[in-house]
Amino acid sequence: MPSPPTALRHVNATRYVTPFREGGSLPGLVEADDLGMYVVKFTGAGQGPKVLVAEVVVGELGRALGLRVPELVSIELPAPIARYEADEEVQDLLNASGGLNLGIDYLPGAFGYDGSRPVPGPEAEAILWLDALTANIDRTWDNPNLLVWHRRPWLIDHGAALYFHHGWPSRAPNAQRFAAARFDADRHLLRAQAGDPASRHEEFAAVLDDSTLVRVVEMVPDAWLEPTEQLTDAEAVRAAYVEHLRARLDSPDAWLPGPAGGGSQ
Ligand SMILES: Nc1ncnc2c1ncn2[C@@H]1O[C@H](COP(=O)(O)OP(=O)(O)O)[C@@H](O)[C@H]1O
Ligand SMILES: [Mg+2]
Repeated sequence: MPSPPTALRHVNATRYVTPFREGGSLPGLVEADDLGMYVVKFTGAGQGPKVLVAEVVVGELGRALGLRVPELVSIELPAPIARYEADEEVQDLLNASGGLNLGIDYLPGAFGYDGSRPVPGPEAEAILWLDALTANIDRTWDNPNLLVWHRRPWLIDHGAALYFHHGWPSRAPNAQRFAAARFDADRHLLRAQAGDPASRHEEFAAVLDDSTLVRVVEMVPDAWLEPTEQLTDAEAVRAAYVEHLRARLDSPDAWLPGPAGGGSQ
């Protein structure tokens, strides 16, 4: 079996096709020089590169757990792409997004999960467990962020997870605080099917061992890892992500939701 990758595959954008206007961040559909089509999340969007870090870390943790996540790539936008864009809002976003952006393999014809073909229980448990681990509150009926493609569920949109990093510019990193933050699963899209995610903790935590955490965090391009006063370079920022995830994996009782129908704790 080939070893899992330690870096995102890289492509260059050749054409901006159209914006996706449903979410807030204005991702765009983009064609690239490998003839692929990607949903691109831009470094210049409102919340900056941290959202892209969360996308990579959570997406690749999901993949390591055997969940379906579209391939993630780093994608560079040549300047002329912005010049030919007529929409001013899009042009500003492209101009603010030089260097590396995140590409997500476009799944043509996929639609948002509507429950008509329920996710099987064991898979639902794994998805809820991943969301609880990474504090991803963005998988609800209002906002499923779960696509159905060729009848199978695919996970997208993990930019809201790992919220602790938004505090780093002003607060010292505190892995124990994150490790102790309870996850409220009441509004989770798959709460009803995910019988008892806690009963699977040992199994999933064994997959996310230290070398897997390090490998996944290594996949994030340096340019998105913004140094702070305490975390002075990309390596220090990477180590902080690993430390937060490790601390949380080691204290499941603090955050893992109980069985479906058994109340929120
Ligand atoms: N890989 C993909 N293949 C097909 N459609 C996608 C893909 N990723 C996102 N989309 C579509 O684009 C929309 C916005 O993407 P999403 O990642 O949810 O960004 P936002 O942060 O704007 O909510 C999704 O609701 C979905 O309809
Ligand atoms: Mg979304």
